[in-house]
Amino acid sequence: MHKSILILGACGQIGTELTLNLRETYGNESVIASDIREGNENLMDSGSFELLDATDYDALEEVIAYYEIDEVYLMAAMLSATAEKFPERAWNLNMNSLFNVLNLAKDKKIKRIFWPSSIAVFGPSTPKTNTPQNTIMEPSTVYGISKQSGERWCNYYHHKFGVDVRSLRYPGLISWKTQPGGGTTDYAVEIYHKALTEGAYSCFLNKDTKLPMMFMDDAIRATQQLMATDMEKIGIRSSYNLSAMSFSPKEIAQNIKEHIPEFEIFYEPDFRQAIADSWPNSIDDSQARKDWGWKPLFDLNKTTKDMLGNLKA
Ligand code: SER
Repeated sequence: MHKSILILGACGQIGTELTLNLRETYGNESVIASDIREGNENLMDSGSFELLDATDYDALEEVIAYYEIDEVYLMAAMLSATAEKFPERAWNLNMNSLFNVLNLAKDKKIKRIFWPSSIAVFGPSTPKTNTPQNTIMEPSTVYGISKQSGERWCNYYHHKFGVDVRSLRYPGLISWKTQPGGGTTDYAVEIYHKALTEGAYSCFLNKDTKLPMMFMDDAIRATQQLMATDMEKIGIRSSYNLSAMSFSPKEIAQNIKEHIPEFEIFYEPDFRQAIADSWPNSIDDSQARKDWGWKPLFDLNKTTKDMLGNLKA
């Protein structure tokens, strides 16, 4: 079936790889990239691009009508660390962009939405290990509050208006094509860059801070898989727990040392430590496995090999 797809926030860490992958699956002409700034060469050269602010409803509606868009992936957001510095801007961006796409779907201008949630929906009172799908959620960060509210709105629009919105609670995402920006889990990407360029890394989290993480290939595959699943199999309309691996800065450093024996890590925790401390260590994603057959392919060893190999090249 032919469908037309719009990616909002296509130039970010996830958006870039998602756009390129969807273009491979559905054809370059079927996937329109958009963002408030231009992206890397691969992205810009492989298909149509629109300068578009996801909080601007009229501009969004116009692009959707022009390209006869069926599906929207809303990847524009302000992440946890930056959101603590600009709470109101984070709330406006993260919520208004979501309301825009939910309302477009409610008015039948688009058929399906993907919107990412995060492990940041959990908070200090959440059980930390193997955090269940349904549990206490009292997020203590601006970003987490916006994602948790977003989940409730997705669930509401689905049950009240029949909107087909689908969502995943991404763990920290590790990738080499595009750098992340403004997140608490960003250290797990920076560390590979610094290991290669400087042989050392000063980490902004403590050595034993264990967080749920995932390699980008797995995250993109999960997203495509969820979006291709039959309607009746999607039992969760807030957002699915999703998991692949969990590790601490000390553990990832040890893993890097197996490839670069002289690599050194130092610890200088900053305000991001408190954010990380409020999040789970590991996630129970059995509902995603059961409903649509989720299974990760990358563990820490495989991730390290892939990251170092690609960054070196
Ligand atoms: N990776 C994100 C962050 O650190 C969490 O979703 O903000």
